[in-house]
This record gives sequence, C-alpha cells and structure tokens, in this order.
Amino acid sequence: MTTTKKLSVIGTGYVGLVYAVCMAELGHDVVAIDIDAEKIAKLGAGISTIYEPGLDDLLRKHLCSGRLRFTTAYEVAAADFVFLAVSTPSTPEGAADLRHVRAAVQQIGENTRGAHPIIVNKSTAPVGTSDTLDYLLARQNGVGGHEFEIVANPEFLREGSAVQDFFHPDRIVLGANDPAAAHAVAELYAPLEAEIVFTDPKTAEMIKYASNAFLATKISFINEIASICEGVGADIGDVARAMGMDPRIGSRFLNPGLGFGGSCLPKDVRALNYLGAVHGAHPQLLNAVLQINADQRRRVIRILRDSLGSLESRVITLLGLAFKPGTDDIRDAPAVDLARLLMNEGAIVHAYDPFAMRSFSALFPQVEMFEDAYAAAGHADALVVATEWEEFATLDLERLHKIMQTPLIADCRNVLERARVLDAGFACFGVGTGIAGLGAVQRRTTRRVRTVPATNQTGVAAS
Ligand code: UGA
Repeated sequence: MTTTKKLSVIGTGYVGLVYAVCMAELGHDVVAIDIDAEKIAKLGAGISTIYEPGLDDLLRKHLCSGRLRFTTAYEVAAADFVFLAVSTPSTPEGAADLRHVRAAVQQIGENTRGAHPIIVNKSTAPVGTSDTLDYLLARQNGVGGHEFEIVANPEFLREGSAVQDFFHPDRIVLGANDPAAAHAVAELYAPLEAEIVFTDPKTAEMIKYASNAFLATKISFINEIASICEGVGADIGDVARAMGMDPRIGSRFLNPGLGFGGSCLPKDVRALNYLGAVHGAHPQLLNAVLQINADQRRRVIRILRDSLGSLESRVITLLGLAFKPGTDDIRDAPAVDLARLLMNEGAIVHAYDPFAMRSFSALFPQVEMFEDAYAAAGHADALVVATEWEEFATLDLERLHKIMQTPLIADCRNVLERARVLDAGFACFGVGTGIAGLGAVQRRTTRRVRTVPATNQTGVAAS
C-alpha cells in the first residue's frame, strides 16, 4: 500500500525523468522541474525527450491521471520530498562539476518559503556532497545549524532498461544522518520489493562510485584478456563464458568490445580517480581502467590503418552510434571517439544507427547518415560494428560483399558469427580473435568510383 506523498523532482534528464514518471506510477503526486522550457513543454504534451522502453506509456498515463506535472517554476514549497537529479559532468581535470547541484540548491533555499521538505540527492556527486548541501542550505537561510534533512539515494538504473530497473531494483541505498529521514524515503519505495541498505551519507555516495568503478574494471579486465587472447590464439568467447560460470566472478559485464561509454561509467571512474588522488591515495587500478578503455578505441584505428594501408580518403562505415543498444544516447560513446580518430586520419565517415543518428549528426555534421546498414555500407572500405544492435547480427553478408569497395569488417562487439563473415569473403577483425582473411583485402586493389549521396535535412542520406 502506498501512502501518497508530494514529490518535486529537479532535473528531467535520464534519471530525473524516469524517477518522476515511475514515482507517479508508485502512487505519488509528482512535479518535475527543469529550467529548459522547451523540454518542459514537450514533456507536458506527453512527448518523451529520451528513448527509454516503457517510459512513453507511463508518461502519458500519469499526465492523464493528474499525478504528474511538468514546470519550469521551482515548486518546492508544498513538497514532502525534493529529489535532486541534475547532471554532474566532468571538469577538465576529471572531477565532478557541481555547478548544477549548487544552482538547484540555491533555488530550493529561495523557494521553500519556510517549509522543510526532505532533500533526496540522486545526482552522482563526490563523497561529502550531502554535507556540502546541508551547509549551503543552512548558510543561505541565514541560520546557524542545519534545517533540512538530506538523504543520499544513489541510483543504479541502466539506460535502455531504466523503467524495468526502477521497478525491480537489486538494492536501494539510503544514506542519512537522521534515521527518521532515511525511513521516510524508504516508505516512498514501499511497493518495491528490494533490500534497503541504510547507512551514512558518505558511505552511500561511495557505494555509487565503487559500484560503477567495479563494473568499468570488469570491462577493462576482459578487454585486456581479449588482447592477450588475440596474441596467444585463445578463444575469448569461451574464456569469458567459462569464467562467468564461477559465481564468484559472475557472467555479466564480461563482454569484450570497444570499452565502456555512456554518461556514467567514464565520468564516475574519472571522478573517483580524481577524488582518490586529492585524498592522497594512488588509484593505479582506476588509472589503468581508463587507459585500457581509451586504447580499446585507438587499436581499432590501428587495425584498420594496417589492413588498408592508409585511412586517407577511405570510406569507413560505422554501424551503431549509441553507447550501447536500447538507447539513443551517444555521450562518451565509442563511436564518437572512432569518428574523431578516423577523421583525423583523413577518412570519410559514413554511419547508421536505428536511434542515435540525429544527435550524432548534431555533433558531427560532416558524417553522412544513411537509412539502413546496407545504404551506409555502399562503397565502404570497411564496416565497423560499434554498437551491438540485434539487427547487425543477421546482416546479409553476401549483399554487403557486393556493395562494399573493400571487404573488411571490424566486428568490435563480436556480434557476427566469425566463420560466416570469413566464408562470405571478408577479412574480419574481432575483439579477442584478432584479424583473419586479410588476403581478401589485398586481392581487391582497384578502387571503384564512389558516388556520394545527397544529405537531406534530417542528416540521413536519401537512398
Ligand atoms: C551504468 C550502470 O550499469 C548503472 O548501474 C548505473 O546506474 C548507471 O551507469 C549510472 O550511473 O547512472 P549505463 O551507463 O546505462 O549504466 O550503462 P551500462 O549498461 O553499465 O553500460 C556501460 C558501457 O559498458 C556501455 O558502453 C556498454 O557497451 C559497455 N559494456 C557493458 C561493455 O563493453 N561490456 C560489457 O560486458 C558490459
């Protein structure tokens, strides 16, 4: 049974929007606040600003039920709880930038008008941020001691399955100095069956960073093992599968590829690394995790260059732009690094992604977008699978072989059956399996005349 509470959620990015919508589904009255008027207008009209499975239906359902509203006004005075879900991007040094958190706290202080809602911090922020918020609010209200209870409640949602994760959490972490405040927040989640970890604010903040850093470490670990497999001729697929059978290791996050991307893992490892360094620790492991991640993208460029001789004026097609399947998010996506590195070497980049082309086009207007994988592969000198969208696993390889300039596929997510690729006459690179069939590239030496397609307003080339 839910006791309906009034919630204000500040920030309508991935976390804030998902929380606002899902909290309404749990039975609470939610006001979602953002300074971006255009975004608020869209959301208020029932148009989701992100692609997230299951979100649109719930958004429209609760706009209709009246349990969810969107506004640019800081409506926090009537709230029982104010959720802070603003972004904490990286500074150039790798620290978490708290500008948005500070601005939101300032607004909360100015607009609560004597009320004292519990502040629930969901923005990923350095260890000690809850104490900083407490201090800022107290200072702003001109009182000596603290007035607001602050609860650190880190989120563990994955993009692409955020709604599902919200309703089936592995754990809920609540860090507070006042146990009553933490229990009040726990009550909000009462309908969810999840283990709750009650702890202090700093520990809650650290749990979030340590969790993301561990996931990133697992990915860099398997990428390093994959490189060694390439050298010694071992099968990375079998290695990862058999390792994962040990429950102490676990099978998840052992997929080698282009390294971790997205708005969270890279930023949080950098922030923890920075935090460790400024507190006198020597975070060598975290440094190595970041290095391996960056190298994972650079080595693909090296492999393409070695296979093709030079990348100058070569057409390289990126299949997949999102940082992972199930999302349109390209923040810190491997494809962003690949596009930049390829263009630095003089390559012409073509691309296709089922959801992420619009945002990629905005970032790289010079990259030509196509309406499907085949249109993008026409006259290409290499195909690079950069995101493991399901549709790429079943590509018609014979068709690709006919339309490409050079039969070379870098399957950087290991989605294609390698034997099938080689049988179709391609040279093929796989992560952990290396390059094979290079003879196919060398045999095809003459270059066909390339026709460059016109680009329409959406950034998608007309076929
Ligand atoms: C991550 C965490 O998984 C969430 O628990 C956390 O809440 C979230 O960050 C956050 O801090 O907000 P997310 O960024 O959605 O979630 O993405 P992940 O599913 O963790 O994937 C991150 C990256 O690692 C992707 O680029 C993915 O392709 C890559 N990855 C993942 C691999 O290369 N190999 C794997 O085996 C798994």
